[in-house]
Amino acid sequence: MNKKADKLIINGDTFIPLLTEEQIQKRVKELGEQISNDYKGKVPVFIGVLNGAFIFMSDLIKNVDLECEIDFFKLSSYGDSKISSGKVKLLKELNCDVNGRDIIIVEDIVDTGLSLKYIEELFSKHTPESMKVVSLLVKPESLKYDVKIDYIGFRIPSQFVIGYGLDYQQKYRNLSSIYVLSE
Ligand code: IMP
Ligand code: MG
Repeated sequence: MNKKADKLIINGDTFIPLLTEEQIQKRVKELGEQISNDYKGKVPVFIGVLNGAFIFMSDLIKNVDLECEIDFFKLSSYGDSKISSGKVKLLKELNCDVNGRDIIIVEDIVDTGLSLKYIEELFSKHTPESMKVVSLLVKPESLKYDVKIDYIGFRIPSQFVIGYGLDYQQKYRNLSSIYVLSE
């Protein structure tokens, strides 16, 4: 695997660069600064949605100039396919107590919005002081559910992407840039 290649051929599919490492890092820094301003004097809990959000969350909190806590939970919806299965399962629960806390849900990508809808319902059973959502990527044309995303890294076309935490059959998360399936 050449991590800087102009294109990646995976199972006969061609993936081409969509966002460079530099573009991603610049935007993540901006998001971190924006969150630092918006949460001045607060101690938010960043809650990452595994597995996809782990790299974004790591870079994001390094750009946040606040005392903060982190936790993760794990959802599954895609299985190993390139299209959503339409079902969400909770595979790993939260460990922290979110009641009375300012929580920031960290997503890698919002596609149909099904996962985020599930998350909103999950947290409606708790009583956080506030809840916001940051997603590195959003596919606006794929949205099927009415969800609120407070901070968006990039709006991208409705095509399958990999890298920077995002997988195809659990692989390619370790690419520093983001590639898109070329059709
Ligand atoms: P949604 O529930 O349809 O919004 O999909 C959300 C989840 O599906 C994301 O958190 C990802 O884990 C996964 N996903 C959506 N689009 C892509 C993609 O283009 N590449 C890899 N994973 C994706
Ligand atoms: Mg995800």
